[in-house]
Amino acid sequence: MSETREKSMSRREFLRNTGRMAAASAMAGVAIPRVHAAEDNTIQVALIGCGGRGSGAAADALSVKNGPIKLVAMGDVFADRIPRSYDGLKKRFPDQVDVPEDRKFVGFEAYKKAMDCLRPGDVAIFATPPAFRWVHFGYAIEKGLNVFMEKPITVDGPSTRKLLKLAEESVKKNLKVGVGLMVRHCRGRQQLCERIRAGEIGDIIALRGYRMGGTVSYGPKPEGTSHLLYQVRRFHGFLWASGGVYSDYYIHQLDECSWMKGAWPVQAHATGGRHYRGNAVDQNFDTYAIEYTYPDGTKLFYYGRNMAGCHGAFSSYAHGTKGCAIISTSSHTPGRVRTFKGQDFSEANLIWAFPQPEPNPYQMEWVDLIDAIRQDKPYNEAKRGAEASLVSSMGRMAAHTGQIVTWDDILNCEHEFAPDADKLTMESDSPLMPDADGRYPVPRPGIVKKREY
Ligand SMILES: NC(=O)c1ccc[n+]([C@@H]2O[C@H](COP(=O)([O-])OP(=O)(O)OC[C@H]3O[C@@H](n4cnc5c(N)ncnc54)[C@H](O)[C@@H]3O)[C@@H](O)[C@H]2O)c1
Repeated sequence: MSETREKSMSRREFLRNTGRMAAASAMAGVAIPRVHAAEDNTIQVALIGCGGRGSGAAADALSVKNGPIKLVAMGDVFADRIPRSYDGLKKRFPDQVDVPEDRKFVGFEAYKKAMDCLRPGDVAIFATPPAFRWVHFGYAIEKGLNVFMEKPITVDGPSTRKLLKLAEESVKKNLKVGVGLMVRHCRGRQQLCERIRAGEIGDIIALRGYRMGGTVSYGPKPEGTSHLLYQVRRFHGFLWASGGVYSDYYIHQLDECSWMKGAWPVQAHATGGRHYRGNAVDQNFDTYAIEYTYPDGTKLFYYGRNMAGCHGAFSSYAHGTKGCAIISTSSHTPGRVRTFKGQDFSEANLIWAFPQPEPNPYQMEWVDLIDAIRQDKPYNEAKRGAEASLVSSMGRMAAHTGQIVTWDDILNCEHEFAPDADKLTMESDSPLMPDADGRYPVPRPGIVKKREY
């Protein structure tokens, strides 16, 4: 047995025992006994990607109340991103943030240095753009670390294949891996899923999802910064970095609808286009309309629009043979899930509504992860997260190429957007460089058919 593996096993055993004590003490309403040196049963956390979501995820981690947990290291590609994140967290959790200057790391290698501060069984948070997930996850597995990684976790077929392989390795090592599809941890959605499985709305025959909001466009690149660093900062605009707004925004509802259906779609047929682009240089379309098909023929209709001044919607619905359900009412939380008789979402038809106020799923995903670590329960969302990311890439590729794209097509697709994401430095060219006219390539449905650009 390797030394890392041995260490992670004994530490897991230790955390499990303290986890049991924590649970028993919580039930008895008493404080957790400090029978071991705090150092040993403290779960240490490293934050990699210190932006909005990373800071939020770290705060949610530090808010879990079943044993000591501390933030001990931070890493970001840009030095200017760390102070704000650190100051906010330190103010809110003065005793749980222990990140001196020499444990704040900057650059494309910051992830290694931050993870090197952890012991096997601790937790690394990945909240960088998704392009770097497989790079960072691979290192965490090597080091025997548990992981929380934000969605999407892949951006194309090849990165999904890499991630699926890593997922298997992480399961073999009994690592606990959470993926930021927090709706899966929403107590209301969990009950809704049980009710759907029990037949409350009959068999699902159609699903609908909407993410229609204001303009999303980026550019032009300012002078004095490289293509790489510009695109990393504006990652929603570039397919290699994030999968674009399609993957970044739509993955949640594609995932929650597929969860309710109990299957992943097997193919996508889609339209989309660019309308008011001005001098923006990003690769996104302004509108997307996708028809996904599940193995039994059921359809999921998804509508995305990034345009100011249009009707806004951020919701998803299931239609069954006996009734219908609201899966998301308006954004991710509160979900305010409900079931109805027939196909009309009227109060008169209401069968059931999850009681309000409901717990925040961003907090619950951490309660569940830390509980699994302390109790040593099987807990690994990496495969499911990769599959949800693949479903996102499947629909996006269908829109961007104008072709029908199947699960196998996207999984076996050879176009890897950023094959060298693990080798980038501050001086590197970007995986996406401008053409002779100085413009980044954009999708051209019907013209470029086998790759998205
Ligand atoms: N679950 C959710 O609801 C939710 C909400 C928001 C964002 N997210 C996800 O979280 C991730 C981050 O989004 P955000 O809104 O926090 O973006 P952000 O720009 O605020 O933060 C990203 C941070 O990562 C840093 N970074 C970029 N490349 C890096 C690298 N190679 N190594 C280290 N640091 C690097 C950036 O400098 C930045 O500070 C995305 O994957 C996004 O989809 C999820």
